[in-house]
Amino acid sequence: MLLVTGANGQLGRRVVAHLLTRIPAAELAVSVREPADAADLAALGVSVRRGDFDEPDTLPAAFAGVRRMLLISSGANPHALRFAHHEAATAGAVAAGVESLVYTSLSTASPASIGEVHRKTEAMIIASGLRHTFLRHPLYTDNFLNGVLDEPGLVTATGDGRVASALRDDLAEAAAIVLTDENHDRDGYDLTGPTAWTQAELAAELSAVAGREFAHEAVEPGEYARLLRAEEVPEGLVGVLLDIHATIAGGGFAEVTGELEKLLGRAPRTMAEAVRALA
Ligand SMILES: NC(=O)c1ccc[n+]([C@@H]2O[C@H](COP(=O)([O-])OP(=O)(O)OC[C@H]3O[C@@H](n4cnc5c(N)ncnc54)[C@H](OP(=O)(O)O)[C@@H]3O)[C@@H](O)[C@H]2O)c1
Repeated sequence: MLLVTGANGQLGRRVVAHLLTRIPAAELAVSVREPADAADLAALGVSVRRGDFDEPDTLPAAFAGVRRMLLISSGANPHALRFAHHEAATAGAVAAGVESLVYTSLSTASPASIGEVHRKTEAMIIASGLRHTFLRHPLYTDNFLNGVLDEPGLVTATGDGRVASALRDDLAEAAAIVLTDENHDRDGYDLTGPTAWTQAELAAELSAVAGREFAHEAVEPGEYARLLRAEEVPEGLVGVLLDIHATIAGGGFAEVTGELEKLLGRAPRTMAEAVRALA
Protein backbone atom coordinates (compact mmCIF):
# COMPACT_ATOMS: atom_id res chain seq x y z
CA MET A 1 0.00 0.00 0.00
CA LEU A 2 1.25 3.50 -0.91
CA LEU A 3 0.14 6.61 0.95
CA VAL A 4 0.15 10.34 0.22
CA THR A 5 -0.21 12.97 2.96
CA GLY A 6 -1.68 16.42 2.20
CA ALA A 7 -3.76 14.74 -0.50
CA ASN A 8 -6.39 17.50 -0.44
CA GLY A 9 -3.73 20.12 -1.14
CA GLN A 10 -2.76 21.45 -4.57
CA LEU A 11 0.32 19.27 -4.99
CA GLY A 12 -1.22 16.26 -3.22
CA ARG A 13 -4.28 16.19 -5.48
CA ARG A 14 -2.06 16.13 -8.54
CA VAL A 15 0.18 13.38 -7.14
CA VAL A 16 -2.89 11.24 -6.46
CA ALA A 17 -4.18 11.82 -10.01
CA HIS A 18 -0.83 10.67 -11.44
CA LEU A 19 -0.68 7.67 -9.09
CA LEU A 20 -4.15 6.54 -10.20
CA THR A 21 -2.86 6.25 -13.78
CA ARG A 22 -0.15 3.87 -12.51
CA ILE A 23 -1.65 1.72 -9.76
CA PRO A 24 -5.13 0.44 -8.85
CA ALA A 25 -7.04 2.67 -6.41
CA ALA A 26 -7.17 -0.24 -3.95
CA GLU A 27 -3.36 0.02 -3.55
CA LEU A 28 -3.48 3.70 -2.61
CA ALA A 29 -4.25 5.42 0.69
CA VAL A 30 -4.34 9.11 1.54
CA SER A 31 -3.99 10.86 4.88
CA VAL A 32 -6.00 14.08 5.10
CA ARG A 33 -7.37 16.37 7.79
CA GLU A 34 -10.85 16.44 6.26
CA PRO A 35 -11.87 13.02 4.89
CA ALA A 36 -15.15 14.51 3.61
CA ASP A 37 -13.12 16.63 1.17
CA ALA A 38 -11.64 13.41 -0.27
CA ALA A 39 -15.00 11.68 -0.75
CA ASP A 40 -14.38 11.59 -4.52
CA LEU A 41 -11.19 9.58 -3.91
CA ALA A 42 -12.99 7.20 -1.52
CA ALA A 43 -15.62 6.65 -4.23
CA LEU A 44 -12.83 5.54 -6.58
CA GLY A 45 -11.66 2.96 -4.02
CA VAL A 46 -8.79 4.93 -2.45
CA SER A 47 -8.44 4.31 1.31
CA VAL A 48 -9.09 7.71 2.89
CA ARG A 49 -7.71 8.07 6.42
CA ARG A 50 -7.88 11.00 8.82
CA GLY A 51 -4.44 12.18 9.88
CA ASP A 52 -3.69 15.52 11.47
CA PHE A 53 -0.07 16.47 12.15
CA ASP A 54 -1.38 18.60 15.04
CA GLU A 55 -2.79 15.43 16.59
CA PRO A 56 0.16 12.99 16.44
CA ASP A 57 -1.94 10.20 17.98
CA THR A 58 -3.99 10.04 14.74
CA LEU A 59 -0.93 9.25 12.62
CA PRO A 60 0.07 5.62 13.37
CA ALA A 61 -3.51 4.55 12.54
CA ALA A 62 -3.61 6.78 9.46
CA PHE A 63 -0.37 5.20 8.18
CA ALA A 64 -1.21 1.58 9.16
CA GLY A 65 -0.39 -1.07 6.55
CA VAL A 66 1.56 1.41 4.41
CA ARG A 67 4.85 0.30 2.85
CA ARG A 68 5.89 3.53 1.13
CA MET A 69 4.62 7.02 1.75
CA LEU A 70 4.97 10.50 0.31
CA LEU A 71 5.20 13.16 3.00
CA ILE A 72 4.16 16.42 1.36
CA SER A 73 5.72 19.23 3.33
CA SER A 74 3.18 20.95 5.55
CA GLY A 75 1.96 24.38 4.58
CA ALA A 76 1.82 25.49 8.23
CA ASN A 77 3.30 28.71 9.54
CA PRO A 78 5.45 29.53 11.43
CA HIS A 79 8.25 27.22 10.37
CA ALA A 80 8.66 25.86 13.90
CA LEU A 81 5.13 24.44 13.59
CA ARG A 82 5.87 23.16 10.07
CA PHE A 83 8.92 21.30 11.40
CA ALA A 84 6.86 19.89 14.30
CA HIS A 85 4.38 18.61 11.68
CA HIS A 86 7.17 16.86 9.79
CA GLU A 87 8.53 15.37 13.03
CA ALA A 88 5.07 14.06 13.98
CA ALA A 89 4.55 12.55 10.52
CA THR A 90 7.96 10.87 10.56
CA ALA A 91 7.42 9.47 14.06
CA GLY A 92 3.98 8.25 12.95
CA ALA A 93 5.56 6.50 9.95
CA VAL A 94 8.13 4.80 12.17
CA ALA A 95 5.42 3.71 14.64
CA ALA A 96 3.26 2.34 11.79
CA GLY A 97 6.17 0.32 10.36
CA VAL A 98 6.36 2.26 7.08
CA GLU A 99 9.40 1.04 5.11
CA SER A 100 10.33 4.10 3.12
CA LEU A 101 9.45 7.74 3.02
CA VAL A 102 9.63 10.17 0.11
CA TYR A 103 9.67 13.81 1.23
CA THR A 104 8.97 16.94 -0.85
CA SER A 105 11.90 19.13 0.15
CA LEU A 106 13.11 22.40 -1.32
CA SER A 107 16.08 23.42 -3.47
CA THR A 108 19.34 23.70 -1.54
CA ALA A 109 19.69 27.14 -3.18
CA SER A 110 16.69 28.42 -1.19
CA PRO A 111 17.32 31.25 1.27
CA ALA A 112 17.20 30.26 4.94
CA SER A 113 13.80 31.88 5.47
CA ILE A 114 12.17 29.15 3.37
CA GLY A 115 14.91 26.51 3.08
CA GLU A 116 16.04 25.96 6.66
CA VAL A 117 12.93 24.04 7.72
CA HIS A 118 13.49 21.61 4.82
CA ARG A 119 17.18 21.11 5.66
CA LYS A 120 16.26 20.44 9.29
CA THR A 121 13.51 18.06 8.17
CA GLU A 122 15.91 16.13 5.92
CA ALA A 123 18.34 15.72 8.84
CA MET A 124 15.51 14.62 11.14
CA ILE A 125 14.28 12.01 8.61
CA ILE A 126 17.83 10.67 8.15
CA ALA A 127 18.15 10.38 11.95
CA SER A 128 14.83 8.46 12.09
CA GLY A 129 16.49 5.56 10.27
CA LEU A 130 13.68 5.35 7.67
CA ARG A 131 14.69 4.60 4.10
CA HIS A 132 14.16 7.94 2.40
CA THR A 133 14.25 9.89 -0.85
CA PHE A 134 14.19 13.69 -0.87
CA LEU A 135 12.56 15.43 -3.82
CA ARG A 136 14.10 18.92 -3.66
CA HIS A 137 11.67 21.14 -5.49
CA PRO A 138 12.49 24.34 -7.35
CA LEU A 139 10.18 27.33 -7.17
CA TYR A 140 6.80 26.49 -8.72
CA THR A 141 6.11 28.18 -12.08
CA ASP A 142 2.45 28.27 -10.96
CA ASN A 143 3.29 30.80 -8.25
CA PHE A 144 4.58 33.31 -10.81
CA LEU A 145 1.39 32.97 -12.88
CA ASN A 146 -1.22 33.07 -10.14
CA GLY A 147 -3.56 35.98 -11.03
CA VAL A 148 -0.77 37.64 -13.00
CA LEU A 149 -2.94 38.53 -16.00
CA ASP A 150 -5.08 40.72 -13.71
CA GLU A 151 -2.02 42.87 -12.95
CA PRO A 152 -0.96 45.84 -15.10
CA GLY A 153 2.58 44.45 -15.35
CA LEU A 154 5.39 42.81 -13.39
CA VAL A 155 7.33 44.61 -10.68
CA THR A 156 10.12 42.61 -9.04
CA ALA A 157 13.43 42.97 -7.24
CA THR A 158 14.89 40.06 -9.20
CA GLY A 159 16.90 42.22 -11.64
CA ASP A 160 17.70 40.05 -14.65
CA GLY A 161 18.21 36.92 -12.53
CA ARG A 162 17.01 33.63 -13.98
CA VAL A 163 14.72 31.01 -12.42
CA ALA A 164 14.64 27.33 -13.40
CA SER A 165 11.12 26.89 -12.03
CA ALA A 166 8.91 23.87 -12.72
CA LEU A 167 5.18 23.29 -12.92
CA ARG A 168 3.59 21.80 -9.82
CA ASP A 169 1.95 19.17 -12.01
CA ASP A 170 5.28 17.98 -13.47
CA LEU A 171 6.72 17.72 -9.93
CA ALA A 172 3.61 15.77 -8.90
CA GLU A 173 4.12 13.32 -11.76
CA ALA A 174 7.77 12.89 -10.74
CA ALA A 175 6.66 12.13 -7.17
CA ALA A 176 4.22 9.50 -8.46
CA ILE A 177 7.02 7.93 -10.54
CA VAL A 178 9.41 7.75 -7.57
CA LEU A 179 6.74 6.44 -5.23
CA THR A 180 5.69 3.61 -7.55
CA ASP A 181 9.14 2.48 -8.71
CA GLU A 182 11.78 1.56 -6.16
CA ASN A 183 14.39 1.61 -8.95
CA HIS A 184 14.18 5.38 -8.55
CA ASP A 185 15.09 5.27 -4.86
CA ARG A 186 18.08 7.38 -3.99
CA ASP A 187 18.97 9.91 -1.30
CA GLY A 188 17.84 12.99 -3.14
CA TYR A 189 16.84 14.57 -6.42
CA ASP A 190 17.57 18.20 -7.20
CA LEU A 191 14.62 18.91 -9.45
CA THR A 192 14.37 21.97 -11.70
CA GLY A 193 12.48 23.08 -14.76
CA PRO A 194 13.97 22.69 -18.26
CA THR A 195 15.05 26.30 -18.79
CA ALA A 196 15.99 29.27 -16.63
CA TRP A 197 14.02 32.38 -17.53
CA THR A 198 14.02 36.05 -16.59
CA GLN A 199 11.05 38.19 -15.54
CA ALA A 200 11.50 40.20 -18.77
CA GLU A 201 11.04 36.96 -20.72
CA LEU A 202 7.97 36.14 -18.64
CA ALA A 203 6.59 39.62 -19.38
CA ALA A 204 7.13 39.06 -23.12
CA GLU A 205 5.23 35.75 -23.02
CA LEU A 206 2.43 37.35 -21.01
CA SER A 207 2.22 40.22 -23.54
CA ALA A 208 1.68 37.65 -26.29
CA VAL A 209 -1.23 35.91 -24.55
CA ALA A 210 -2.78 39.06 -23.00
CA GLY A 211 -2.76 40.94 -26.29
CA ARG A 212 -1.39 44.03 -24.54
CA GLU A 213 1.97 45.39 -23.46
CA PHE A 214 3.01 43.63 -20.27
CA ALA A 215 6.20 45.23 -19.00
CA HIS A 216 8.66 44.11 -16.34
CA GLU A 217 9.92 46.83 -14.04
CA ALA A 218 13.00 45.85 -12.02
CA VAL A 219 13.12 47.84 -8.79
CA GLU A 220 15.51 47.95 -5.83
CA PRO A 221 14.64 45.72 -2.83
CA GLY A 222 13.72 48.75 -0.67
CA GLU A 223 11.22 49.97 -3.25
CA TYR A 224 9.83 46.45 -3.71
CA ALA A 225 9.31 46.15 0.07
CA ARG A 226 7.56 49.53 0.08
CA LEU A 227 5.18 48.40 -2.68
CA LEU A 228 4.41 45.12 -0.87
CA ARG A 229 3.67 46.95 2.37
CA ALA A 230 1.45 49.42 0.50
CA GLU A 231 -0.60 46.39 -0.59
CA GLU A 232 -0.75 45.27 3.06
CA VAL A 233 1.21 42.08 2.43
CA PRO A 234 1.91 40.55 5.88
CA GLU A 235 5.35 41.47 7.22
CA GLY A 236 6.55 37.84 7.40
CA LEU A 237 5.70 37.32 3.74
CA VAL A 238 7.43 40.59 2.78
CA GLY A 239 10.67 39.20 4.25
CA VAL A 240 10.28 35.86 2.47
CA LEU A 241 9.54 37.53 -0.89
CA LEU A 242 12.53 39.86 -0.52
CA ASP A 243 14.76 36.84 0.23
CA ILE A 244 13.42 34.91 -2.77
CA HIS A 245 13.86 37.88 -5.10
CA ALA A 246 17.39 38.51 -3.80
CA THR A 247 18.26 34.84 -4.38
CA ILE A 248 16.89 35.01 -7.92
CA ALA A 249 18.80 38.26 -8.56
CA GLY A 250 22.00 36.56 -7.38
CA GLY A 251 21.48 33.63 -9.75
CA GLY A 252 20.73 31.15 -6.95
CA PHE A 253 17.76 29.53 -8.69
CA ALA A 254 19.26 29.59 -12.20
CA GLU A 255 20.78 26.10 -12.37
CA VAL A 256 19.03 23.58 -14.64
CA THR A 257 19.83 20.10 -13.34
CA GLY A 258 18.02 17.88 -15.87
CA GLU A 259 16.96 15.53 -13.05
CA LEU A 260 13.23 16.20 -13.49
CA GLU A 261 13.50 15.46 -17.22
CA LYS A 262 15.27 12.15 -16.51
CA LEU A 263 12.59 11.10 -14.03
CA LEU A 264 9.69 12.07 -16.31
CA GLY A 265 11.29 10.59 -19.43
CA ARG A 266 10.28 13.76 -21.28
CA ALA A 267 11.04 17.46 -21.14
CA PRO A 268 9.21 19.20 -18.27
CA ARG A 269 6.93 22.01 -19.40
CA THR A 270 8.60 25.39 -19.85
CA MET A 271 7.47 28.74 -18.44
CA ALA A 272 6.38 29.74 -21.98
CA GLU A 273 4.22 26.60 -22.32
CA ALA A 274 2.65 27.29 -18.93
CA VAL A 275 1.84 30.88 -19.95
CA ARG A 276 0.27 29.71 -23.21
CA ALA A 277 -1.88 27.28 -21.20
CA LEU A 278 -3.25 30.28 -19.25
CA ALA A 279 -4.84 31.72 -22.37
N1 LIG B 1 8.54 25.22 -4.24
C1 LIG B 1 7.58 26.13 -4.16
O1 LIG B 1 7.52 27.12 -4.93
C2 LIG B 1 6.48 25.96 -3.17
C3 LIG B 1 5.38 26.81 -3.23
C4 LIG B 1 4.33 26.62 -2.34
C5 LIG B 1 4.43 25.61 -1.38
N2 LIG B 1 5.52 24.80 -1.32
C6 LIG B 1 5.60 23.70 -0.33
O2 LIG B 1 5.01 22.56 -0.93
C7 LIG B 1 3.94 22.08 -0.11
C8 LIG B 1 2.80 21.62 -0.97
O3 LIG B 1 2.39 22.72 -1.76
P1 LIG B 1 0.88 22.93 -2.15
O4 LIG B 1 0.89 23.91 -3.22
O5 LIG B 1 0.21 21.62 -2.33
O6 LIG B 1 0.32 23.63 -0.79
P2 LIG B 1 -1.10 23.45 -0.11
O7 LIG B 1 -2.17 23.27 -1.13
O8 LIG B 1 -1.24 24.57 0.85
O9 LIG B 1 -0.95 22.09 0.69
C9 LIG B 1 -0.38 22.04 1.96
C10 LIG B 1 -0.83 20.76 2.60
O10 LIG B 1 -0.34 20.73 3.96
C11 LIG B 1 -1.34 20.06 4.70
N3 LIG B 1 -1.32 20.34 6.13
C12 LIG B 1 -1.21 21.56 6.72
N4 LIG B 1 -1.34 21.40 8.06
C13 LIG B 1 -1.56 20.08 8.28
C14 LIG B 1 -1.78 19.31 9.44
N5 LIG B 1 -1.85 19.87 10.66
N6 LIG B 1 -1.96 17.98 9.32
C15 LIG B 1 -1.92 17.40 8.10
N7 LIG B 1 -1.71 18.07 6.95
C16 LIG B 1 -1.55 19.41 7.05
C17 LIG B 1 -2.64 20.60 4.13
O11 LIG B 1 -3.67 19.73 4.46
P3 LIG B 1 -5.22 20.08 4.18
O12 LIG B 1 -5.44 19.70 2.74
O13 LIG B 1 -5.94 19.21 5.15
O14 LIG B 1 -5.38 21.55 4.42
C18 LIG B 1 -2.35 20.64 2.63
O15 LIG B 1 -2.76 19.47 1.99
C19 LIG B 1 3.57 23.27 0.79
O16 LIG B 1 3.02 22.80 1.98
C20 LIG B 1 4.90 23.96 0.97
O17 LIG B 1 5.63 23.35 2.03
C21 LIG B 1 6.52 24.94 -2.21
